[in-house]
Amino acid sequence: MKIFLIAGARPNFMKIAPIARAFDKHSRIKYKIIHTDQHYNQNMSNIFFEELGIRQPDYHLGAGGGTHAQQTAKIMTGFEEICENDKPDLVIVVGDVNSTLACSIVAKKMHIKVAHVEAGLRSFDLSMPEEINRIVTDSISDLFFLTEEQGMTNLLREGKTRDKLHFVGHVMIDNLFYQLEKLKKMDTNNFPTALFKQKHSKYGVVTLHRPSNVDNKEILETIFETFSKISEKLSLIFPIHPRTRKNMKNFNIKPGANIKLTEPLSYMEFLNLWKDAELALTDSGGLQEETTALGIPCLTIRENTERPITVTQGTNELMGTSSKKIQQAFEKIIAGNWKTGQKPQLWDGNAAERITALILR
Ligand code: UD1
Repeated sequence: MKIFLIAGARPNFMKIAPIARAFDKHSRIKYKIIHTDQHYNQNMSNIFFEELGIRQPDYHLGAGGGTHAQQTAKIMTGFEEICENDKPDLVIVVGDVNSTLACSIVAKKMHIKVAHVEAGLRSFDLSMPEEINRIVTDSISDLFFLTEEQGMTNLLREGKTRDKLHFVGHVMIDNLFYQLEKLKKMDTNNFPTALFKQKHSKYGVVTLHRPSNVDNKEILETIFETFSKISEKLSLIFPIHPRTRKNMKNFNIKPGANIKLTEPLSYMEFLNLWKDAELALTDSGGLQEETTALGIPCLTIRENTERPITVTQGTNELMGTSSKKIQQAFEKIIAGNWKTGQKPQLWDGNAAERITALILR
């Protein structure tokens, strides 16, 4: 069985790593890794391959930068050529980025089966590019691997048949547990952020990159004002995404004195920070789930989430951009009054094994 495993942007790399590891145990599966290069910087891409132990991609598409249409078109053209020459039996796409959408469309039109890992998630907010990517990818996929029960409800409502839907748990949580074990054996004193961690017995982590939060000057300013107020009581560390850095420069926004900005961090370095943080302030999808898995309080700077289990069972709450709401929640967290949450069903580190077993079947 010849499988193409697609990765393009930072949140994809941690999802393909456990799948590749599981595939390596089965000689019947021959797989190739396709990197679309949607993310291309050393610290947005290469470092993840090194740290997560993913072998080098078999193909690079060089499709980074540009508008959504330019990026998507470039990925589609490059991927079509590879499929034409190499003819896989199955294409596996993960998550909800432009690479997920582009490669699923190409494969499906070439009558190649498509499996979507992390299928069925819906924010019901079509202003998010990821929601469009999720809906289109799911509308044409053949096999659906789900991370939470709500995904099942969403896909059944969209007319999918039950036999195609497989609730398997979460490959990103497989990766989290795997890397956590590796981290325990590492000397973290060499990390560039080691000094920050030594200096601050308590701190919070921030990530922010959604266009709805960072592409508008007033919204980004308001968010930073809130973070500044919080940082008067708790130091914050903020590995800053290229999109956000670009916009802060254009809008001339300066962070508060107690907010430490860094370049995007490697997986291990960021994990080493957030696993011991008092809280995460974020608009990331993945971090909402990862903090739930480890029981770290998470305030999500969004009005909605496609990952509702992190709120109903986990440690996550939706804040929107309301300064008052964020500050009230923050006070609750530092007073030790935040919900402890529970680990969702099947988030046990074995999702990739389940996926592999289902594919082999
Ligand atoms: C993409 C995903 C988003 C995901 C995020 C994680 C889509 C629609 N969005 O958003 O779902 O949460 O990745 O980071 O697919 N850039 C660099 N170097 C890089 C990568 C990007 O400079 O290595 C620049 C790009 O040139 C562009 C900007 O950052 O100007 C945004 O990159 P892009 O891949 O278009 O979207 P993200 O905002 O990263």
